[in-house]
Amino acid sequence: MPLYQQLVFPLLRRFDPETVHDLTVAALALAQRNAAGRRLLQQIRGPVPPQPVVVSGLRFPNVLGIAAGFDKEAEVAPGLAALGFGHVEVGTLTPYPQPGNPRPRIFRLPADRALINRMGFPNRGVAAALHHLRRLPRPRDFVVGVSIGKQKETPLEDAARDYLALMDAVYPFADYLALNVSSPNTPGLRALQGERYLTALLQTLVQRRAELAEQHGAVRPLWLKVAPDLTPGELAQIVAAALAAGVEAIIATNTTISRPPLRSPHRDESGGLSGAPLAPLSLELLARLRELAGPDLPLVSVGGIFTAADVAERLAAGAALVQLYTGLVYEGPQVAGRILRALAAAPQ
Ligand SMILES: Cc1cc2nc3c(=O)[nH]c(=O)nc-3n(C[C@H](O)[C@H](O)[C@H](O)COP(=O)(O)O)c2cc1C
Repeated sequence: MPLYQQLVFPLLRRFDPETVHDLTVAALALAQRNAAGRRLLQQIRGPVPPQPVVVSGLRFPNVLGIAAGFDKEAEVAPGLAALGFGHVEVGTLTPYPQPGNPRPRIFRLPADRALINRMGFPNRGVAAALHHLRRLPRPRDFVVGVSIGKQKETPLEDAARDYLALMDAVYPFADYLALNVSSPNTPGLRALQGERYLTALLQTLVQRRAELAEQHGAVRPLWLKVAPDLTPGELAQIVAAALAAGVEAIIATNTTISRPPLRSPHRDESGGLSGAPLAPLSLELLARLRELAGPDLPLVSVGGIFTAADVAERLAAGAALVQLYTGLVYEGPQVAGRILRALAAAPQ
């Protein structure tokens, strides 16, 4: 039994999950600042063979990324990369600072290897994140995506305004942009996935991307992140809208508002469920997306990934890349190294 599961996690469990998260980010920020700290992170990760892949024209050092919500303000992407993650999806950012929901708003469900969160995009606004985004190393050997969302107060009719403002601000610093229309904790946000808004929203953003590409001399891929709680009909509409607008990839999935059978005391908390119970939903959605989208549209699979076997299963089902968040909480900082070594050792 690894040290983390036996000793560290039982200790961390005594503290509020968000406090532990904030301390983890602070420790990573400290460690990534100098060569000795970065070496320490690489030692924790252990040796990993290079396993590069190209998706949306971007070169990823490996298939595994850290999902949105962990590095909300783009503070620790180099530290996460030193731990082995080939890409970091920072954010979700909103145009202005907002506090999110009252704490506590993250709950551990250890018996289920799951989390429930109802964060509601707390962040200090895009300006604070830009401070960090500007300081990211360039060129760099990892990929940084920026996840963008809408301010809680912005009416759905005006949501495009928020996404446009964020695109304008982060475009020079992001390798790709993730359009988050699927978090369950911003009231109404998921309606942007529906027929009424999605086509117009995507067309507006793709149009602005063309202008920004001209201005900055670089085309940044736009990836759309969807929820797991979609009917087959809704999913078909989303894929049609994404293909018609020219979105470069779909990320599936965000957390679920459904509640598969759960054992942990916090199972009735409201919010989005992530981790092991999300895996079957995420995998099923991935397979349906692959069918609907045809062979060419890249898919990024996220939801309940803990092991190399989980990753291999997603790749076999048609994912080009995978991401995790909850797996890091339960498996610890060695999770990426462990997965990448096992993937490299597995017969292709
Ligand atoms: C505490 C927490 C905060 C999250 N915040 C965001 C977010 O800001 N934007 C987003 O697109 N997804 C967010 N997510 C969802 C994750 O990116 C991911 O889609 C989901 O957790 C499923 O992956 P997992 O089972 O590996 O955790 C968050 C998840 C957690 C647990």
